[in-house]
Amino acid sequence: MKRTRIDRIFDPALIGSEVSVMGWVRTRRGNKHVQFVALNDGSTIRNIQIVFDMSRFTDDQLKLVTTGSSIHVTGQLVESQGKGQTCEIQADTLEVFGTADPETYPLQKKGHTLEFLREKAHLRPRTNTFGAVLRIRSALAFAIHKFFQERGFFYLNTPLITASDCEGAGAMFQVTTLDIDNPPRTEDGKVDYSADFFGKPTALTVSGQLEGELGATALGAIYTFGPTFRAENSNTPRHLSEFWMVEPEVAFFDISDNMDLAEDFVKYCIGYALQNCKDDIDFLAQMYDKDLPERLRFVIDNDFVRLSYTEGIEILKASGKKFEFPVDWGTDLQSEHERYLVEEHFKKPVILTDYPKDIKAFYMKLNDDNRTVRAMDVLFPTIGEIIGGSEREADYDKLLKRIEELDIPMKDMWWYLDTRRFGTVPHAGFGLGFERLVLFVTGMTNIRDVIPFPRTPNNAEF
Ligand code: 4AD
Ligand code: MG
Repeated sequence: MKRTRIDRIFDPALIGSEVSVMGWVRTRRGNKHVQFVALNDGSTIRNIQIVFDMSRFTDDQLKLVTTGSSIHVTGQLVESQGKGQTCEIQADTLEVFGTADPETYPLQKKGHTLEFLREKAHLRPRTNTFGAVLRIRSALAFAIHKFFQERGFFYLNTPLITASDCEGAGAMFQVTTLDIDNPPRTEDGKVDYSADFFGKPTALTVSGQLEGELGATALGAIYTFGPTFRAENSNTPRHLSEFWMVEPEVAFFDISDNMDLAEDFVKYCIGYALQNCKDDIDFLAQMYDKDLPERLRFVIDNDFVRLSYTEGIEILKASGKKFEFPVDWGTDLQSEHERYLVEEHFKKPVILTDYPKDIKAFYMKLNDDNRTVRAMDVLFPTIGEIIGGSEREADYDKLLKRIEELDIPMKDMWWYLDTRRFGTVPHAGFGLGFERLVLFVTGMTNIRDVIPFPRTPNNAEF
């Protein structure tokens, strides 16, 4: 079907030409002489106004044109008389694809709360807010590929079904074809996974990193970008059970190279969105958060502060602030601590490094002090942790020792250890939570509102 996309219609060169538009009706108003319809086709936050001269259309025709209905209009694009739009369409023909009964269409009225719209996740992409968020999300995904491809990184697809728990947190969704009501059992009464589909227990991956390291130690520099799954029962505005992660992994890279890459990378993505999603960002700013464009620019224009976990703990202790979770060397930072450092103390994004080994995953490179590892977390205003990464332990014996200390089953890890047995190299990488980036760029405050169909505990309806 030949149509003019509404995002391309505001081109002054088109004035006077015949156009054909298709989309969903946002509003209709007017009188018995003239009717005005605001039409949106999802290509832009902007609606095109269509003017129906009622001497050429019947009331019965226009009656079907209600909020949410889908129509096809042809007519001439003319300069607009009214305020707020540069051009409008003088309708010649009208075809109604589908009606939307005003009595039952859930988005009949404007101004629904985000909570209400979460219950209508199947239709919310048709609202201004979710249209804007989803277009920004798409642009950010493109920016991610563009950033890495332009720098010679190869896109590596890592498996979603896996037998290893990369982060060691034990929060995995099991994948099985066994009859869970009546699984086969071994003589000692345990479930017999040798009879399962893969001949062993498997789960959905929490990270593509381990396989990413295999790629990096062959191709030099890779990135993954795919869904990851975590069965933690975290009902917070920053956690999803299914989220998308971007994981670059680079050979011949140390932690300071890794920090430079992470900082360049997020700045690039935010800059790309500012340049390419102006209308949508301006709309979200106007609706929800006036400071949004300024906050985005601020992150791009300033160097991130880099300091160690130990220094961070000292600042938090000296702050005199009452935190819900006490601060002590050796405990993991909560988002209230991360946000204090970023929003109140430094007023800039922060990269914290060299965390205690006991609160980080087994694969991180051990420092000479024997108690901290070369971890790096990038902390952002309003978000807290947006990136987690590290230099990796490249020494076979040290890595093996760590695997044994943590009781990680060797049968799951032999292939990973082979990277250190054969041609091991210094290497590093990180993981960016894609939805946390989208949260930051859109100024939304709940992660459920930046992914089309959120998966959270007790929620997999749509
Ligand atoms: O810090 P995490 O757990 O690190 C890893 O998974 C490493 N394997 C990454 C690597 O070095 N290649 O997760 C990385 C990022 C976090 O900083 C956060 O932004 C996001 O993933 N994240 C989540 N986002 C949404 N919902 C969740 N439940 C998340 N858990 C982590
Ligand atoms: Mg982390």
